Amino acid sequence: MNVKVAGRSRPYRTVAFNAESNAVQLIEQRLLPHTFEIVGTKDFRATGRAITDMIVRGAGAIGATAAYGFAQGLRAFSGKDPAKFNTHEDLVFKTLAEARPTAVDPVNAMLSMRTKLDRSLTIAGQQAQALVLAHAFADEDVQHCLELGEHGAPLFKDGMRILTHCNAGWLAFVDVGSATAPIYAAHHAGRKLHVFVSETRPRSQGATLTAWELAQEGVSHEIIADNAAGHLMQRGEVDLVIVGSDRTLGRTGDVANKIGTYTRAVLAQRHKIPFYVAIPLSTIDWNLTSGLDIPIEERHQDEVLGAWGKTRKGQREYIRVANPGSRARNPGFDVTPAELITGIITPAGIFKPKDLWKNRKRLGMTSNI
Ligand code: MRU
Repeated sequence: MNVKVAGRSRPYRTVAFNAESNAVQLIEQRLLPHTFEIVGTKDFRATGRAITDMIVRGAGAIGATAAYGFAQGLRAFSGKDPAKFNTHEDLVFKTLAEARPTAVDPVNAMLSMRTKLDRSLTIAGQQAQALVLAHAFADEDVQHCLELGEHGAPLFKDGMRILTHCNAGWLAFVDVGSATAPIYAAHHAGRKLHVFVSETRPRSQGATLTAWELAQEGVSHEIIADNAAGHLMQRGEVDLVIVGSDRTLGRTGDVANKIGTYTRAVLAQRHKIPFYVAIPLSTIDWNLTSGLDIPIEERHQDEVLGAWGKTRKGQREYIRVANPGSRARNPGFDVTPAELITGIITPAGIFKPKDLWKNRKRLGMTSNI
């Protein structure tokens, strides 16, 4: 995606790799929309921390970060003993897999790299191959998002008003985005759309990241308070809802996504508004059999009790909003049951949630996942 920095527009990927310094390069998303900065992680542990601390966030982006972090970790091994190399590989895998629990993309990314690694190669050969595989994963992420755009764009007619939640845009992937892909494709085809962006408390990914992206792309949009969604739907001001997913169950069609997604799906059903979810294949979990088994990340209470922002003097600051003595509960995600979802937009086409399983071959299910 093109980003305008200091008056100049140039293409960026959310996640990239510097082979010379063996560093994963990330857009520092916690600073957006006020500051655009690229940071490098010096080793796989720092890459894991960047995922945990949400320098990089969004299922696809943390999947690609884990893929590069896995390659980064393998490349840093300097011994000659294959057994030690394997033990080191397990540590790198575990560190990156545990960085955030809900999105399945990091685990899927590393598992698919692991099965493709040619174990007959020397350690140096496997280290080189790991980076090739990480690049391939990142490129596939971009390709999948472009395909989501192709399949989803026909749903977006001229004049439609769309509601989206959180950030399932290019910042949540390597490029393009999932929920935003059809929006961008329809917009580039000349259709006039208006996007209502849920603020997405407590971290405000909608107000900060999605709004910034849509502004960069020139898509008409307004930020709404999370609580305004029902009101707008009731007044007939929303034609379609589209969101991304952190984990979609291939067996049931249930979708884990940012907290508040479930509420929007219930409201959409009440008002007979189509509710779509857009996903690349790396977001599908073919193992779990119930949405209630998806691990839901519980985040720090300070995110609920206050907010980060930029002061009038230009300083980034955290402001406590809530009553000083009160505590907070902060689940990061919720699960939308399949029956509330109109369709799941995938790189292989649009499916009813319950039909994912019978189309599992087309949707890339392999025995290793
Ligand atoms: O906590 P975040 O910002 O990583 O949550 C991101 C979301 O919930 C997105 O909607 C989701 O990852 C789908 S788009 C990849």
